[in-house]
Amino acid sequence: MDEKQVKRRIVLVPVPAQGHVTPIMQLGKALHSKGFSITVIQTQYNRVSSSQDFSDFQFLTIPGTLTDSNLQSLGALRFLMKLNQICEASFKHCFGQLLQEQVSRDDIACVIYDEYMYFSAAAFKEFQLPSVIFSTTNATAFVCRSVLSKVNADKFLIDMKDPEVQNSLFPGLHPLRYKDLPTSAFGTLEDSISLYSEAVNTRTASAVIFNSASCLESSSLLRLQRELQVPVYPIGPLHIAASAPSSLLEEDRSCIEWLNKQEPTSVVYISLGSLGLMENKDMLEMARGLSNSNQPFLWVIRPGSVPGSEWTESLPEEFSKLVSERGYIVKWAPQMEVLRHPAVGGFWSHCGWNSTLESIGEGVPMICRPITGDQKVNARYLECVWRIGIRLEGELEKETVERVVKRLIVLGEEGADMRKRAIDLKEKLEASVRSGGSSCSSLDNFVNSLKTKNF
Ligand code: UDX
Repeated sequence: MDEKQVKRRIVLVPVPAQGHVTPIMQLGKALHSKGFSITVIQTQYNRVSSSQDFSDFQFLTIPGTLTDSNLQSLGALRFLMKLNQICEASFKHCFGQLLQEQVSRDDIACVIYDEYMYFSAAAFKEFQLPSVIFSTTNATAFVCRSVLSKVNADKFLIDMKDPEVQNSLFPGLHPLRYKDLPTSAFGTLEDSISLYSEAVNTRTASAVIFNSASCLESSSLLRLQRELQVPVYPIGPLHIAASAPSSLLEEDRSCIEWLNKQEPTSVVYISLGSLGLMENKDMLEMARGLSNSNQPFLWVIRPGSVPGSEWTESLPEEFSKLVSERGYIVKWAPQMEVLRHPAVGGFWSHCGWNSTLESIGEGVPMICRPITGDQKVNARYLECVWRIGIRLEGELEKETVERVVKRLIVLGEEGADMRKRAIDLKEKLEASVRSGGSSCSSLDNFVNSLKTKNF
């Protein structure tokens, strides 16, 4: 890059939630390493700190946005919709000021916004700046959201009440079934449809970036390439290409010392991501099943993730007893370090896309218990396409929990085969972000298109 290009700036607009902040900050790191200046325009809620690894980034705040209690009362879908309604004007103002600080409009190479921060597109249109959508989920989930945004809600709801339909394949989305589609547990189907139609609308965007790799989902990527009519850039997994710590919660590193004392590939690591909730009764069945499996376990229980209690205080004493015998609980873990630890033999996960990529990236097979949205798509792919996960469906009972842990970690062939496939996939992912790999080339192509203004 010449001197002029070194100074060009990319503006990032993240959704204020861990699963979205993490990959967009990694994207920022990747682009920064290619010589761009980075500005992050974020909401007041869940702000990333400018300290840590981001001292070279500029951070701007959109004033007067929503709070945690809004998230609790509205639910995630309505929260996002409301955020989009109230941020448009203040974002335009904030962005306008940033523009004034530039010597020339051309100093801003492009703005990359999370697909759920679609309100920001109005500002780029007004200021006539190139914009790019960043999807923090995978391409397959994007395809599904696009399909869902066009379904007839009444008919779909009737269909979904029929167990036979629920279990049948959804036309054109093999191997996904109706019940694997990314409908949200945090709002009505109408809300999902309405939010998804906004999110998949490329508006004036010049490209779409995915934190994914063609070795994981080439047909969905090709399909999007055809349907979206703008270039699609799969540049992930970003946590391998450009790791950047952006935890919004404090990580409890004491679990690493505990892991150091466990046997290789013996531990089940359990985490439901940054938003997942779990009922008391399910936690107790899980603790009983894990305990009966005789395997050690490391369990992330976020404060507030057990409805009706601050942390684990409302759980019966039996729970603490079972956990203290064989397990270790933390409020938030250094997840990537945990997955990299040789003691970890399996990951019980809600199958968020970041967790999925991080687990595959360390060759760790999974127990899949999706809760909502794209997690259901990921779980289906983990089980049926990549074949490195066991899906746990239906009511949680201690017997099924014990069985699934034994299948994955204790008993011979099935778990060993999954681990082998997971390690194969890990190697493919690593190759994709190395020089000459598909994701690395895709990122270079994206950067070249910015250089040549070939949008
Ligand atoms: C949600 C969706 O589930 C996900 O598919 C989408 O791409 C983004 O929004 P979330 O539910 O939080 O995200 O899950 P996930 O995508 O797995 O992200 C969680 C992140 O938190 C991961 O990067 C994980 O490493 C991190 N984490 C989780 C920790 O650092 N410590 C923990 O204890 C638990």
